[in-house]
Amino acid sequence: MSINLFDLTDRVAIITGGAGLLASEHAIALSAYGAKIILADFNEEKCNTAVDELKKQNINAVAKFCDVTKKESWEKLLSDVLSEFGKVDILINNAGFTNQSKSANYDAAFENFPLEDWNAIMNVNLTGAFLGCQIIGKQMLLQGKGSIINIASLYGVVSPNHNIYPGTGISQPVAYSVSKHGVVALTKYVATLWASKGIRVNALTPGGIFNDHKGLFLERFKQLNPIGRMSDKTELRGGIVYLASDASSHVVGHNLIIDGGWTAW
Ligand SMILES: NC(=O)c1ccc[n+]([C@@H]2O[C@H](COP(=O)([O-])OP(=O)(O)OC[C@H]3O[C@@H](n4cnc5c(N)ncnc54)[C@H](O)[C@@H]3O)[C@@H](O)[C@H]2O)c1
Repeated sequence: MSINLFDLTDRVAIITGGAGLLASEHAIALSAYGAKIILADFNEEKCNTAVDELKKQNINAVAKFCDVTKKESWEKLLSDVLSEFGKVDILINNAGFTNQSKSANYDAAFENFPLEDWNAIMNVNLTGAFLGCQIIGKQMLLQGKGSIINIASLYGVVSPNHNIYPGTGISQPVAYSVSKHGVVALTKYVATLWASKGIRVNALTPGGIFNDHKGLFLERFKQLNPIGRMSDKTELRGGIVYLASDASSHVVGHNLIIDGGWTAW
């Protein structure tokens, strides 16, 4: 007898932040188990390019516009997805205001960190995930089943280690860490509210993903991580499939930490 706990045949998955580094990895993982993929981003050009790249690997994906900070934008996305696919089974709240987004004052010191930048980061990372849970989750409630995965961060579990940044040109502002702690709290709140209605909500916490990091930052990071290296971008795939599929049918409000041990010591 074969039991395919991870089967996602014909499940419809929305992945926000579709134009970024990790969304395509989530898409590759879900698609390998049969899911149909919608990559959503407010950067339409980059999102279309990401979908073109996936199609070259025979991955069934479409690109859609969504500004995760805007309620109307989520509603339009949902209505487009319902007319094209008829349902939504999986939502990955993955869009992030990261150090790739780099607002003008992203690197400002805490003492001078501008309110505008705080609001911009909180809006994408936390309000975006709230709206996604609310609007797509409401549809899942009608269907009686769904899996929501909120992408948090190691800095949603612990504070950034302030000693690794000086002299590297990289920084992690307060709003990033606070918003990601909020994502974990949001996950527990919605998960416990909806678990008995067939909707499972969990968080997935990546550690530092290698993206051509160099020099001092890379050396310090490797030394501080028990596994001795940064994560490869492919190393979240197992966790994504697990949380999206019935393999995790009794897993509710969990934060699956995939960080090489960073938060373990
Ligand atoms: N890369 C890492 O090392 C790492 C580590 C921990 C957590 N994470 C989290 O994983 C997720 C994905 O990270 P990534 O490395 O792919 O980030 P990335 O910066 O490469 O991609 C983020 C994407 O979100 C999109 N986005 C930003 N604002 C948006 C908005 N208002 N509406 C819609 N889309 C918007 C951007 O256009 C971009 O395509 C993020 O939530 C990030 O915080 C990443």
